[in-house]
Amino acid sequence: MMAISKLPTLTVKDSGPEHFNVLAHIHQQAFEPQGERGWASQEFKQLLSTPIVASKISICENIPLGFILYSQTIDEAEILTLAVLPEERSKGVGYILLDTTAKALKEKGCRLIHLEVRADNTNAISLYNRYGFQKKGVRKAYFNTVKGIKIDALIFTLLLND
Ligand SMILES: CC(C)(COP(=O)(O)OP(=O)(O)OC[C@H]1O[C@@H](n2cnc3c(N)ncnc32)[C@H](O)[C@@H]1OP(=O)(O)O)[C@@H](O)C(=O)NCCC(=O)NCCS
Repeated sequence: MMAISKLPTLTVKDSGPEHFNVLAHIHQQAFEPQGERGWASQEFKQLLSTPIVASKISICENIPLGFILYSQTIDEAEILTLAVLPEERSKGVGYILLDTTAKALKEKGCRLIHLEVRADNTNAISLYNRYGFQKKGVRKAYFNTVKGIKIDALIFTLLLND
């Protein structure tokens, strides 16, 4: 799996308390246009105070472009959310966040990553497929948009031990 990016100076680092506001900003920018509720800074604070939850942020020339939030329990991990600013997409930011996280989890003894994605989220599904995730199932009417529309979730998993 080759990481690709159109941004040679893109770096990925662990998110800390100094990033709660920016995580909220990116999440709102990424999800509100697709009818989902953006998460507040306080929610990131709460999530990241849980020992099993972690996040990585991608930064290019001091500007945060995207982040990933995930949890790990023993040898399994779940991607809780992944978001890239709308104007910074298709430059490999999402791929690099996924790749850096998968490698870090593998080093920590994780053997499986799973996630749920909206069945109509073609960009994200395409990225997960390209990275090697496999569709394992469907949760009917799992997601609720802010307008109350119910959308199926696809369950994807990635095995890390090969
Ligand atoms: C899903 C999401 C995170 C993807 O982020 P991204 O940074 O655009 O992802 P990437 O750039 O790594 O990959 C997206 C596309 O850009 C293309 N791309 C990436 N780097 C490229 C490069 N150097 N040259 C040309 N194309 C490139 C990829 O081929 C990919 O296209 P494909 O998926 O059709 O193969 C982003 O669309 C997003 O934030 N969406 C809203 C929030 C969301 O739905 N999150 C997922 C929840 S499960």
